[in-house]
Amino acid sequence: MNIQTAIHAPAIETANEFAADVIAGLSANPKSLPPKYFYDLAGSGLFDRITRLPEYYPTRSELALLNKHAPEMVSLLPPRAALVEFGSGSSRKARILLRAAANVEAYMPIDISGDFLRQDAARLRRDFPHLAIHPVVADFTVLSEPPAEIAATPRAGFFPGSTIGNFEPHEAAAFLRRAAKILGPGSVLVVGVDLAKAPDILYHAYNDAEGVTAKFNLNLLVRVNRELGANFNLAAFEHYAFYNVDKSRVEMHLASTKRQKVRIGDVTVEFRAGETIHTENSYKYSIDSFQALAHGSGWSPIQAWTDGLFSVHALRKSDDGGRMTENGLK
Ligand code: AVJ
Repeated sequence: MNIQTAIHAPAIETANEFAADVIAGLSANPKSLPPKYFYDLAGSGLFDRITRLPEYYPTRSELALLNKHAPEMVSLLPPRAALVEFGSGSSRKARILLRAAANVEAYMPIDISGDFLRQDAARLRRDFPHLAIHPVVADFTVLSEPPAEIAATPRAGFFPGSTIGNFEPHEAAAFLRRAAKILGPGSVLVVGVDLAKAPDILYHAYNDAEGVTAKFNLNLLVRVNRELGANFNLAAFEHYAFYNVDKSRVEMHLASTKRQKVRIGDVTVEFRAGETIHTENSYKYSIDSFQALAHGSGWSPIQAWTDGLFSVHALRKSDDGGRMTENGLK
């Protein structure tokens, strides 16, 4: 199939939406910015460097778990399924499953970055000539129905990277319920989840010695300056990341080193000395706490693989998953 015909365009982030989210986040108290805006071209490059840092174990752990257990993981998928990946990036991890999967017929990477997706689709078609590749340019968090290309096919889902940790737990539950609806009866969801662990390990994973994570965090202000004509002084903001044990999450902030004013278009935002912009939460779960969350959100946990640092879960759609209400009660 021609790529163009497979591209949908619901709710792609626009410049206006970026401006509106930035103004809203910086006008709120406490101030915040959505982490989804980290990933412009420079930010994606910095994240790629993060994944190779000695202190940042999640990517290495997850890749090792996928490499080691892929045959077992794909054996749990419904036969002749379409594999739907939520927020696919480079598809590097999906390729590990696809190489091990004789029973998968189609792959549908969903991502907001159309350029990456199109390039990647061409390479996937070359490397997996027997698979139907259906890229979808969309914000997967707002998708609510299976795209037409795979509506008649059994479906499986893949959500690696512990991206689910960026959501508040109630948002993660809402995502899981929506995924259950999109993937349908009999489906299996494979999801990567970072584990709660010793605070010093988590601290260093988000405060690397080389300062790449700091650059990644500050790049958000570079992007706001460039795309929204703001005048953030990068020398007057500092990367600040720590493990919040009570909330079981790593928090990233950008801290103002002094009292200052910043202009974003025609809006002026004031900062107190030490005031922060909260840029990311990265929730950490135990195997049990994640399985409990999944169980309350339309999924039955069937298997979990772990190296003690990171976990990959296989969940099967519960029969009553579609009837769950927003708070997870029937
Ligand atoms: C891609 C959201 C899983 O939370 O660990 C890495 C992003 N932020 N270093 C994470 C990130 C800082 C990452 N996720």
